[in-house]
Amino acid sequence: MLDPSVPAVILAPMEGLTDAPMRTVQGEIGTFSFAVAEFLRISQEVPPKSVFHRQVPELLNHARTPSGLLVQVQLLGGHPERMALSALVACQAGATAIDINFGCPSPTVNGNDGGATLLKHPRRIREIVRAVRDAVPQPVPVSAKLRLGWDSVDAIHENAAMAAEGGASWVTIHGRTREQGYRPPAAWEPIGTVREHLGIPVVANGDIWSLDQFRRCRETTGCTHFMLGRGALANPFLSRQVAGELGLFGEEPAHENAEGDTVSDWRPYLQRLVRVMAASPGRTPVHTVRRLKQWLRIASLQGDFSAFDAIKRADSVEEIFATLGSPVPAPKL
Ligand SMILES: Cc1cc2nc3c(=O)[nH]c(=O)nc-3n(C[C@H](O)[C@H](O)[C@H](O)COP(=O)(O)O)c2cc1C
Repeated sequence: MLDPSVPAVILAPMEGLTDAPMRTVQGEIGTFSFAVAEFLRISQEVPPKSVFHRQVPELLNHARTPSGLLVQVQLLGGHPERMALSALVACQAGATAIDINFGCPSPTVNGNDGGATLLKHPRRIREIVRAVRDAVPQPVPVSAKLRLGWDSVDAIHENAAMAAEGGASWVTIHGRTREQGYRPPAAWEPIGTVREHLGIPVVANGDIWSLDQFRRCRETTGCTHFMLGRGALANPFLSRQVAGELGLFGEEPAHENAEGDTVSDWRPYLQRLVRVMAASPGRTPVHTVRRLKQWLRIASLQGDFSAFDAIKRADSVEEIFATLGSPVPAPKL
């Protein structure tokens, strides 16, 4: 999945945002190497295969979106044996790669011994990674997604080393502590220091909103693997720009959206999401309206979508498209 010698652009897991329909659409617009699915929380029970299939329907399609984007399953929890058994069930359900979440800052999650709270216990990180590594078939890579620490940036060195000792094939580092939440800016320097010494690939993550920020992140970290979260939603062309910069298009000239290009018409992308959501089990029009607004909010704060004020009170897909002044009709739900 992640080849240490090949650069990569990875779509970040974002709970409530990059679910299966959004992964489908992003897989069509972008040029991601693979995507990480939103976390599945492992609490008291090991989930059955059906739960994995519901949350990550790509598992029924060789772990790929309909357009072929490979999807990695992410688990969150603090109990090594349950995490290991759950990872095994995930593989039986079709997972080809497992990521472990050591970064979620949610108080509920942290209060239940999951996510970023484990950053306070480096040896537990090693224990969990090792248990999962030992449980799943050898060809299935296991990776860890970390923040810099709970309240100290320096914790990343030991935590990343423990993940590697536990058998992680790579680590992704979001350049913030739990205490920093999502406050900008992300710190990229510690990611670079970890990369120099860790011995396994390090994926740099946090606050890559533009090609310029990507270049600075690459310069600061020396990484060749990058994960894009909110930036990929704010600028649907960002993954292409980054992939082009990383040489992932080979000698081919031009990817169609060069640096600086902005989305002149958001409607086809939005319309595609509406269609995919309408065809997805359990998604109601209310979900669809909410998802469109979440996407466009990020795009208006950090991207070039300028009509958010006009759509933010819309109650229906039709109203959103009417407000966007569409010759492109609102798709049928
Ligand atoms: C709404 C939201 C949900 C997220 N859910 C997850 C998640 O399920 N698993 C995870 O590892 N990280 C999650 N993250 C963190 C992102 O994967 C990423 O590390 C973070 O947004 C920083 O990257 P960015 O600046 O490119 O967005 C979430 C972030 C956001 C904003």
